[in-house]
Amino acid sequence: MSEVERALAVIGQRRPGGHARIGMVLGTGLGPLAEGVENATSIPYEDLPGFPDAGVSGHKGALLLGTVEGMSVAILQGRAHYYENGRADAMAVAVQTLKGLGCDTLLVTNSAGSLDPEALPGWPMLITDHIDYSGLNPLIGTDGDERFVDMSDAYHPGLRERLKQVGAAQGISLAEGVYMWFSGPSFETPAEIRAARILGADAVGMSTVPEVILARRYGLRVAAISMITNFGAGMTAKKLSHGQTKTVAGQGAERMQALVRGFLKSLASDPVL
Ligand code: HPA
Repeated sequence: MSEVERALAVIGQRRPGGHARIGMVLGTGLGPLAEGVENATSIPYEDLPGFPDAGVSGHKGALLLGTVEGMSVAILQGRAHYYENGRADAMAVAVQTLKGLGCDTLLVTNSAGSLDPEALPGWPMLITDHIDYSGLNPLIGTDGDERFVDMSDAYHPGLRERLKQVGAAQGISLAEGVYMWFSGPSFETPAEIRAARILGADAVGMSTVPEVILARRYGLRVAAISMITNFGAGMTAKKLSHGQTKTVAGQGAERMQALVRGFLKSLASDPVL
């Protein structure tokens, strides 16, 4: 049995018949999004073969199944980052397990630094596309023609439109832009931030891109939202720290939560096809 099959078997034991429509990945400081999941079953990653150790402070490390706003969800509370173990495919089993649970959509959240003076700390930014300038890819070493994944419209246009509508209904004019992946764990230098701006990035962060590539490989539609926690290095006099990332992400968590709940409610009544 593969790790994915074994993980699905464990989930089947803990939650017989368990399935989900929407998979979610919660980033740093966004854990509170998981509160308010109804009829919840929580399974620690350590009980799920192939799931990562979610060791980063601010990340929990459990799969949470339940219902939010009438939508069945499978929430990955905490992710593995490339910088933890040098593996870009650390979330491969987790993403395939979401697919195996019946998810057709993955909603990814993260914390990010903004390169856009109009995308402010404490506010969500809709990701429209990404730049992977790292030379890394979670599909390196996998087989078959399916690894040659088309990445145009990787961030599903219909889901993006729906998120903008939901934001507008809540009085949020959602910033949107291109997310550029840096490996971390050190923050970028001011020169790297200037380079990222020239290359077309609006935000920078240390996650998400591997998960999005994996999700596209396994046929999941993707929507992704950054919680902006700071401006990029050198854009202000402020020094960057993980403490600040967690604090500001926490401050914006309520807005993010409202946006995500509104999105799920909207999808439950009118799925984007
Ligand atoms: N850079 C990279 N990752 C981040 C940042 C940043 O400025 N802020 C939050 N996560």
